[in-house]
Amino acid sequence: MKILVTGGTGYIGSHTCCELLENDFEVVIVDNFFNSSPDVVGKIEEISKKKVSFYEGDVCDKAFLKGVFEKEKIDAVIHFAGYKAVGESVKKPLMYYRNNLDSTITLLEVMQEFGCKKIVFSSSATVYGNPEKLPITEDFPLHTTNPYGTTKLMIEDILKDLYVSDNDWAIAILRYFNPIGAHKSGLIGENPNGIPNNLMPYIVKVANHELEQLSVFGNDYNTVDGTGVRDYIHVVDLAKGHIKAIEKVLKDNGVDAYNLGTGNGYSVLQLVNTFMEVNGINVPYKIVERRSGDIDACYASTDKANEKLNWHAELGIEEMCRDAYNFVLKNK
Ligand SMILES: NC(=O)c1ccc[n+]([C@@H]2O[C@H](COP(=O)([O-])OP(=O)(O)OC[C@H]3O[C@@H](n4cnc5c(N)ncnc54)[C@H](O)[C@@H]3O)[C@@H](O)[C@H]2O)c1
Repeated sequence: MKILVTGGTGYIGSHTCCELLENDFEVVIVDNFFNSSPDVVGKIEEISKKKVSFYEGDVCDKAFLKGVFEKEKIDAVIHFAGYKAVGESVKKPLMYYRNNLDSTITLLEVMQEFGCKKIVFSSSATVYGNPEKLPITEDFPLHTTNPYGTTKLMIEDILKDLYVSDNDWAIAILRYFNPIGAHKSGLIGENPNGIPNNLMPYIVKVANHELEQLSVFGNDYNTVDGTGVRDYIHVVDLAKGHIKAIEKVLKDNGVDAYNLGTGNGYSVLQLVNTFMEVNGINVPYKIVERRSGDIDACYASTDKANEKLNWHAELGIEEMCRDAYNFVLKNK
């Protein structure tokens, strides 16, 4: 089976390509390197000891994408390509609506034209907004608090409408919680430029002396130690969830959404302390004011993914912390 992976040289995409190859799928990657680099293709091949087909280009470019579908007989698609920074989306909403919606609509049109109607889509726990209770199940009301989240919700609606119009489609919407960590080889991982938006890349940069200290936003939340609690998931576990989702869409038509998290919440300080312990390194931090919009806690119910996809996360926060730092040490 040949899988097209859009955004396949990005953080989650690259790990998913390795898992696909490991499971004997053929992989075709499309990426424009907006947020990744060309050497990732070679690293995926080095890890898996297999070849991938790679096409550099923009998923919004219909002629380019049709060319890929003409050359490759694609059985199913995993669609990662998109912009993902919440803060940037607030400042540049049009850029986010243009890229995330345009890439998806273009992709779906081309898929339809070529009779390829099986897709796994990267959504996000951000579509749950500020949930009223925990753990979060897939039937919770959906609402968003920023343009990035709204693009994800709009795309979920587009996919649901598409299925209503044509029951031949098989669509899995995956709502990721907080992916962190890296492949154990240290060859691929997450290394954002500049000041990171997310906690783990920030911790790693402080550990690596690229940033002076970590700011912990608030210690008066209603949680175990007052700092915010989130559901962190190892990126390799997340990648494995995509294999189960691809197997599902190759087998069954329909449209369904699944949470991919561990179902466990860890606080900011629990994560920082575990990072220091497993890596034997100090991460200086200071407690600062709460950030507006942040909530006490957020973690997934993973029952649906367990039952319907036969998937559950296996790696704990120790492995997440170890592998995140290992990636940075190997790429200094
Ligand atoms: N990382 C997270 O915390 C997280 C959480 C929830 C959902 N997601 C979603 O998962 C997907 C993958 O996330 P990631 O962390 O791997 O991000 P990433 O930025 O590392 O990967 C996205 C890839 O898509 C490429 N890309 C973007 N627009 C493109 C376009 N128009 N044409 C071709 N390539 C394009 C980028 O160059 C990049 O390689 C995204 O859709 C993101 O919104 C990520």
